[in-house]
Amino acid sequence: MSGRDLVDLEDLDEGEIREILRMASGHDPPRATRTLDGKILGLAFFEPSTRTKASFTSAMLRLGGSVVDMGEPSTTSLAKGEGFSDTLRILSGYCDALVIRHKLDGAARYASELLDIPVVNAGDGSRAHPTQALLDLYTIGKIKGRLEGLSVGVLGDLKYGRAANSFILAISRFSPKVLYLISPPLLRPRREVLEALRRRTDFRIVENPRDVIGELDILYVTRIQRERFPDPEEYERVKNSYVVDLELLKEAREDLRILHPLPRVGEIRNEVDGTPFAAYFEQARNGVPVRMAVLEWVLGHGGA
Ligand code: NCD
Repeated sequence: MSGRDLVDLEDLDEGEIREILRMASGHDPPRATRTLDGKILGLAFFEPSTRTKASFTSAMLRLGGSVVDMGEPSTTSLAKGEGFSDTLRILSGYCDALVIRHKLDGAARYASELLDIPVVNAGDGSRAHPTQALLDLYTIGKIKGRLEGLSVGVLGDLKYGRAANSFILAISRFSPKVLYLISPPLLRPRREVLEALRRRTDFRIVENPRDVIGELDILYVTRIQRERFPDPEEYERVKNSYVVDLELLKEAREDLRILHPLPRVGEIRNEVDGTPFAAYFEQARNGVPVRMAVLEWVLGHGGA
């Protein structure tokens, strides 16, 4: 196989993560290049997506390549009963790398083992969203000038949120001053995530963002992942657990910056958008330079 997979940031060492971030800054602001001239990227999104799919497409086009989009699953041969592995095998014959999103944990790993072309995980179930975590790190580096030594709070659905999980594991590798995991008890991170964290960093479990807001450099807010709750009643119990509004931010430091992988569904009020705290739209924009770097990295055309 020529190239590499990106299934989980846990598979990369710190040097590789830094290499991708360095490559991303070379594409910021994104400009047309020809590094992936003639290459084709396959998009296999079995779950909804706006930012991830559009920014991968934009990134590939900026690099001189093209995309083949499998399209909405209900319009594909899956709807005729074709198996997942057949669909993946067929698609892999039409492209040089495949970006996959799926509701099942482990789907991207499965694809990477099945296929001979590089596979990029664009989100598998509740588990991982590595390109999101890269763009989160990139955004923090850009706005704070460093990744290390920051007081970071991660608020929301830390159990089912793959963006939250990937971010928590990623930032824990850069020696945070302190990492606060802020959620209702029902939505605390899963045991394997907590175990990995314990080996790496000092973290604290908190229920109320008010208790820590005044200390934070970064507040990473996430959506409660309604579609991943096995029990709708459980969702009902936690759905309105927290909201970030101007009232909460009265206690914040002036240089606090708020990130969110988006979409938001009410957990950050619109009134926050016009304040210097809001970094989430800038974060979404960074999806393009970071995914340009990821595509060059997996296809073996960049970095060292
Ligand atoms: C996230 C996802 O799909 O995991 N969206 C994204 O890629 N920015 C977050 C979410 O859906 O809550």
